[in-house]
Amino acid sequence: MQKYSRIISTGSYLPQKILTNKDLENMVDTSHEWIIERTGIESRHIASECESSVDMAYNASLIAMKNAGLNSNDIDMIVVATTTPERKFPSTAVLLQNRLKNNSAFAFDLNAACTGFIYALDVADTYIKNEVVNNVLVVGTEKITSLLDWSDRNTCVLFGDGAGAALLSSSEIPGIISNTIGSDGTYKDLLTVNTDREVIEMSGNDVFKIAVNTMGKLASETLAKNNMTVESIDWLIPHQANSRIINAVARKINLPEEKIIMTVKTHGNTSAASIPLALDHANSNNLIKKNDIIMFEAFGAGFTWGSTLLKY
Ligand code: ACO
Repeated sequence: MQKYSRIISTGSYLPQKILTNKDLENMVDTSHEWIIERTGIESRHIASECESSVDMAYNASLIAMKNAGLNSNDIDMIVVATTTPERKFPSTAVLLQNRLKNNSAFAFDLNAACTGFIYALDVADTYIKNEVVNNVLVVGTEKITSLLDWSDRNTCVLFGDGAGAALLSSSEIPGIISNTIGSDGTYKDLLTVNTDREVIEMSGNDVFKIAVNTMGKLASETLAKNNMTVESIDWLIPHQANSRIINAVARKINLPEEKIIMTVKTHGNTSAASIPLALDHANSNNLIKKNDIIMFEAFGAGFTWGSTLLKY
């Protein structure tokens, strides 16, 4: 019997400290009105100095495990998508495994910038379909504000910290219907963190245009590949970078706004954590029902992009 993977539970964690646009007005030459109009962001959470991507991943994972009724040693694979690991090595995933007191899984990190969670889902789905594993913990966790130059108004207003987790389990019914991932290194310098400076450098306008075009095309291709029309979609859960990018993509595919899960207003761009955070937000607020058709879509540095189509 063909195996599929299903998301059986979610969890998330947001740091306590909230930084508002008003707070940013005291830090750089910006205004609440400018940030809202250009990005849709009102506030974002900021991890404390002693809080790492592992701490946030751990908190999100505990909730996902509790919601699924799974014990730590029921998990046989852990994939963490992050660009802000606590250490160069061991990986964030192995440090998380240790915190969870798990000794039955293999664990590794994956970096596809803001598309990381979609890449991680694709890998987890492949291992489950090939019957290598049964239960996979997939986490997106970012202390992305540690990479900000707080004097650069072009970037420091956009990002926030947090973590989201999803537990995937082997099933005889889908589940994940299809994954599509892609990348193109031609654009490597438009959005980057060089190891000598360790701050985000970005050509915002170029990123914006390519993100809208790529994500619009990807959404249409994902539907066509699965013989679906936009009417089949109950929810779009996109990477939360900017409400203007998200709305422009939705307009390109004629998806009504009511079908979009939007958390960018209070989360900012949390990179690889943004989709699992938005998914858990939708889940905890009972927006998603069993058998809903959901599309995840992301775009990030590289550039990288990806989509996941699934039945909840
Ligand atoms: N406050 C006030 N003014 C600002 C700020 C700010 N925080 N930031 C930039 N400006 C100014 C610029 O200096 C510029 O001034 P000038 O005309 O005097 O030179 C003016 O605003 C317009 O700048 P643009 O860059 O053209 O503004 P734009 O409308 O493109 O908005 C933004 C900028 C919000 C960064 C937008 O380009 C964007 O969202 N890009 C996508 C970037 C992104 O999301 N990156 C994250 C990773 S990739 C991903 O997740 C999809």
